[in-house]
Amino acid sequence: MNDYVLAIDQGTTSSRAIVFDSSGSIVSTGQKEHEQIFPKAGWVEHDPHEIWKNVREVVGQALTTADLTHENIMAVGITNQRETAVVWDRTTGKAVYNAIVWQDTRTQKIIDRLGGDDGPDKYKATVGLPLATYFAGPKVMWILDNVDGAREKAEAGDLLMGTIDTWVLWNMTGGADGGVHVTDVTNASRTLLMDLKTLSWDESIAADMGIPLSMLPEIRSSAEVYGEGRRGGMLPGVPIAGILGDQQAATFGQACFEVGMAKNTYGTGNFMLMNTGTELVPSKNGLLTTVCYKIGDQDPVYALEGSIAVTGSLVQWLRDNLGLIKDAPEIEQLAASVDDNGGAYFVPAFSGLFAPHWRSDARGALVGLTRYVKAGHIARAVLEATAFQTAEVLEAMRADSGVELSELKVDGGMVANELLMQFQADILDVDVVRPKVAETTALGAAYAAGIAVGYWSGEQDVIDNWAEDKRWSAQMDEDERGRLMRTWKKAVSKTLDWVDDDTD
Ligand SMILES: Nc1ncnc2c1ncn2[C@@H]1O[C@H](COP(=O)(O)OP(=O)(O)OP(=O)(O)O)[C@@H](O)[C@H]1O
Ligand SMILES: [Mg+2]
Repeated sequence: MNDYVLAIDQGTTSSRAIVFDSSGSIVSTGQKEHEQIFPKAGWVEHDPHEIWKNVREVVGQALTTADLTHENIMAVGITNQRETAVVWDRTTGKAVYNAIVWQDTRTQKIIDRLGGDDGPDKYKATVGLPLATYFAGPKVMWILDNVDGAREKAEAGDLLMGTIDTWVLWNMTGGADGGVHVTDVTNASRTLLMDLKTLSWDESIAADMGIPLSMLPEIRSSAEVYGEGRRGGMLPGVPIAGILGDQQAATFGQACFEVGMAKNTYGTGNFMLMNTGTELVPSKNGLLTTVCYKIGDQDPVYALEGSIAVTGSLVQWLRDNLGLIKDAPEIEQLAASVDDNGGAYFVPAFSGLFAPHWRSDARGALVGLTRYVKAGHIARAVLEATAFQTAEVLEAMRADSGVELSELKVDGGMVANELLMQFQADILDVDVVRPKVAETTALGAAYAAGIAVGYWSGEQDVIDNWAEDKRWSAQMDEDERGRLMRTWKKAVSKTLDWVDDDTD
């Protein structure tokens, strides 16, 4: 009877639940988008209660579609948008404020204050990250500083904090009635609060941020039984046995288990992770050092990461804010209506620039415009922006790791776009490879949970199940590649130094 594993993928734009069988194939799916709340420029919020409701709804959809009940589910894995922070009351289960999303830049002043004379690298040796608005800890600090009564309640031990994995797990396991307050090492490594070597909270950083230790979840591995679905819920008694941040989950689902193997996920943003094994590799070129995964009591495996804030969300922006396309896939036809970008370059520095620049003073720019440029060129510039940003990250990855990638495994919503994939291979001069199961994020979380309960025996099953779907190789000549990259870098330079006291 108990034949499947369920993954919950709580993402930035939607929540998905996917049932997988033992071959790693999709049996059924549920998916629902949630509201993106933009209270002012640079602020991005989600309603955590809407998210929890959607999670339950999509689990119901996935089970019902395949005519399954909880009795058919061996284990549940959770994967999530990372760095998004929630603070809630442990007695009522109510969030004291909306979730502050990873793209949100409101913590800039907190960041500057925390860095002081030491600057953005103040905690880097301990946590692997530069001080930036991207990460979760300072978002919690903002809530405690700005929500009436929050700090007093936090100090009295009445509030809990968590990234979205923790919020979902706590609710699934009973909420105010005995919910498990736990996170995994990969999510904890995105808070600016976890010591990468000891995998425990750094008390002095928590003190700098004024975050009481009583608010913080317990840090556990990525694959072990954390708790069971609550009685009366949809998954009563089912072990919840895997947690991985979405990008680490995709790395796991892509079977990047050897040192030097890398994947790139094209979703709301783009995230390239390279496995560096049990060695912590500090970055000199604007990448992050992060935990890749930790299976049970095995040693942790680390990764270098290049995070790009805006890629697929620029396609959504073209759809929602400009109305140039009706849906995301339509951008491919529009881009194919012209031969090249017509001289237009679009640098989507909507949340500043992340890797490898880390410039919070940057804002978006569309440059190179002339009367010649039309909608097709802008569509192309939008797609090319994803590929150019990826090329910059790959360059940093090479410099930091010394590894020459022979191919790049890709996944995420944008890899359906063949024009983009060809351009990506052209601009990287590296083969781009898409797997048969493109839902690698959910798949990775399912594998972590399934391995923890013995449904799969270990990484070898993941490797055996992985299969190539399509491959793109470079067709562009070296001169053209060089010219395009040089012009892109010039475009990037036009976005810097934009935010100052007048624009703030
Ligand atoms: N054919 C396409 N061409 C270009 N972009 C696309 C295409 N299809 C989807 N996208 C973009 O891909 C993104 C969705 O990808 P995906 O579902 O992997 O996102 P995601 O990051 O997992 O979402 P979430 O943030 O909810 O996890 C959207 O931003 C969308 O604009
Ligand atoms: Mg996702």
